Formats: sequence, C-alpha cells, structure tokens
Amino acid sequence: MAEQLIYVTRKIPEQFLQTYQNHFRFECWNKEEEPVPREILLEKAEKADGLLTMLSDKIDQELLDRATRLKVVSNLAVGYDNIEVEEARKRGVAVTNTPDVLTDTTADLAFALLMATARRLAEATDFVREDRWRNWSPFLLAGSDIHHKTIGIVGMGRIGEAIAKRARGFGMKVLYHNRTRKYEAEKTLPAVYREFDQLLQEADYVVSVLPLTDETADLFDAQAFRLMKETSIFINVSRGGVVDENALLKALKAKEIKAAGLDVFREEPIRSDHPFLALENCVCLPHIGSASMETRAQMINLCLENLTAVLGGEDPKTPVF
Ligand code: DGY
Repeated sequence: MAEQLIYVTRKIPEQFLQTYQNHFRFECWNKEEEPVPREILLEKAEKADGLLTMLSDKIDQELLDRATRLKVVSNLAVGYDNIEVEEARKRGVAVTNTPDVLTDTTADLAFALLMATARRLAEATDFVREDRWRNWSPFLLAGSDIHHKTIGIVGMGRIGEAIAKRARGFGMKVLYHNRTRKYEAEKTLPAVYREFDQLLQEADYVVSVLPLTDETADLFDAQAFRLMKETSIFINVSRGGVVDENALLKALKAKEIKAAGLDVFREEPIRSDHPFLALENCVCLPHIGSASMETRAQMINLCLENLTAVLGGEDPKTPVF
C-alpha cells in the first residue's frame, strides 16, 4: 500500500515527526510564524490523507470537497471553530483536538492576565521602561485587589474549573455560568451557579472560557457590559467572536467597566493601530493561552497520535465527535 501523506500546515521541529516517519510521509509548510496560504493548503489537502492544522486554517466545505482522500483533520488547539465539523462528519472525515494537555497552562495564562490587568502590570512596565518613574506616591499605578473578590467564570469546562481552583487559592468567591450545572464542581471547589445576567451583576472579574458556537457568538454585547459593575474587569481567553468588540470598546471608553484583559480577538492578529491598544485599561496578548514549551510539545504529540491512529484504522484519543 502506498504511504499515506500527512500535511502539516506549519513548520514544526523535525524531532516530533521522527517516530512516525517510517510509516507515513510528511510534508510541512516551511514557515513557523506564517500560516500556509489558502491556495497552497487547498492543493496540499487534495493529496493528503491527514492534515495537522492550526486554528488559523479554515477547514470548510470548499476544502473538504477538494480533499477526496482526506480521512482526518487533527487541530492543534482545544477549540475547533476554524473547522466546519458537520461538513467533515458528513464526509466521514474524523476531526480531533487537543483537550486536557493544555488545561492547566491555559488556566495559568488566564489567571496571569487577570492579575496583570487588575494590577496594571503592562502600564507599570512601560512606566519604568519609559523613564517616567520619578517618585513613590501613594496611588501610583494603584490597581484592584484580586484576593477575596468574586470571580464569575462563563463556560465551566476543564479550563474554567482549573481557573476556579486558582481563584480559590486567592480566597475568591467563585460564581459560574454554564449550559449544564456542574454539581461535582459546586461541591468540591466550591463554586456557585448563576444565571448569566446575575453573574455579570455580581462578579468583580468576569472570565470568558466559552467555545465559539452559534449560541455564544456576541454573547458579551452592550447589554452584558452595562450589567457589569463599573469596577469590574473582563477577561477573555476563549475566542474573540464571543464578544461584540465595538460594545466592549465603548464600555471601556465610557468606564462602564474598569478594564479588560484579552488574549483573543475576532480577527487575529490585531495590528498596532487597533483601538484596544490605545486604551490604558485594556491589556492585549497575542493568543498565547496554551503557549508554554512543554504544553505545545504535548499538543503536537497528541495531534500526531490522533492522526496516526485514524490512518492506522484505530480510534483517535481525542475526537471532537
Ligand atoms: C485553543 O487550544 O483553542 C487555544 O486557543 C490555543 O491556544
């Protein structure tokens, strides 16, 4: 039987592929920091049995129609809103993601972003770097406390629960909103369930960990920001599409909420002239939720295990359906 071809849509270190090279043929896009151009992806997909994709690659009907040999798409992310999953399912193409291995790393980043936003760390670093530090003064760069405040986690999946654990370590009260109640977490963390609007009204920190779906698109809209307290801080580590960004911008400018920490945006990457970056009360990161060396290695390995399992006729470890 001819060797099966796996197309990897980004340059990844050769060592990850070594174990599999005797059984599969790999082709990789040759740049680490730039996504594969759409035309090349479409051409490669036509010949590929498996694809190892990034969240910036659109796997849609057009691609799936052309990729007649394709058996599996293995996405290097827990989120898979870049893939038209139903279309893949209809064509018998398996789709896999990378849950679990990135849970703690993403929760660490969410909490780091929450703390950086609350305690104004980005502003403070610029302040020193730009030689503006002249004197100590009582309210110099004074931020908001984190300990013993109330955190409201919207989307209580694995990452939501891992954020809640960190929050409990800071003596915070944990509220959560989720499609389904998490009775076990309510007992063990503990965490308290709230309807969405009520959570927004009560929480000092509102953290979005929601997947992007038809139900969650634009969930954080003008009305949601109006419901939040003037002192509250909004953190998003999930997907930009769950936020109406114009509404958030207005809420930040009008001081309807105190600040926002964002790791994700509707259109990524954002450029330096993006209006969020002109605001002192907005901390922006370049979608680095799961970006630790250790976790990215585990994610790549899991993607390869999933790909080779499906191509070898076995069940993948982490299918999305
Ligand atoms: C994911 O896995 O979905 C993250 O957004 C990637 O960091």
